[in-house]
Amino acid sequence: MAPRGEGSGAPVDSMVAQLEKHPISSILIVIAMQTEALPVVNKFQLVENPHSSFPEGVPWVHYHGTYKDIIINLVWPGKDLTLGVDSVGTVSASLVTYASIQALQPDLIINAGTAGGFKAKGAGIGDIFLVSHVAFHDRRIPIPVFDLYGVGSRQTFPTPNLLKALNLKAGKLSTGDSLDMTPQDEASITANDATVKDMEGAAVAYVAGLLKIPAIFVKAVTDIVDGKKPTAEEFLQNLAAVTAALDGAVAQIVDFISGKCLSEL
Ligand code: ADE
Repeated sequence: MAPRGEGSGAPVDSMVAQLEKHPISSILIVIAMQTEALPVVNKFQLVENPHSSFPEGVPWVHYHGTYKDIIINLVWPGKDLTLGVDSVGTVSASLVTYASIQALQPDLIINAGTAGGFKAKGAGIGDIFLVSHVAFHDRRIPIPVFDLYGVGSRQTFPTPNLLKALNLKAGKLSTGDSLDMTPQDEASITANDATVKDMEGAAVAYVAGLLKIPAIFVKAVTDIVDGKKPTAEEFLQNLAAVTAALDGAVAQIVDFISGKCLSEL
């Protein structure tokens, strides 16, 4: 896809409308953890791009390849340079999403990852959710209008046909930079009407919104936040099995997308 450059003369909205009529040719998959990313890399036989346009020295990793008629780019923020663990959370997710959009100009972003689920809202371990709305739950600014900015609620790109075809669950996602949940977080998550909570989604949505790239969010439940088990323990226990389910869903989504326009999703 040609970059949406300056000086083309066409308003961005009409360019998006045009794109909606052409088959999707390039997608960007944003995944925070290596355990989640590598099975997708293997499934689509993606290869690492050693010459990515990312700044020198950053840990971000770009894989690419072609599947059917689609150029698939997958980015993973890599391991923290000091501590060696996956660079999870909103800061890394925003940065790598921004840099990847600038470099790759995808037609569509897919943010895939694991999430905590609320059984009171119908979530169970291993469920795969296609997210309808995202918001933050740990950006409390109790000043009029700043409060709304902090919550940053937005609708995701609607994909009713995808939801129906793959028989996925639909739900709202709440994002924060902690795996655990304070009582204040819980109140905000309830106010956000969220069924799942993660550490990246709303940040990816913010950047995608800024740069006007449609984005969808696929989240697989590793732990029940309103259950009895300690979150970190339950998350680690279920990570491998749930990741397999997540990667299966991503593969099905890419298959569904193949040959379709944005407006057909
Ligand atoms: N990812 C998986 N489980 C999570 C949780 N409980 N909170 C935030 N992110 C998660």
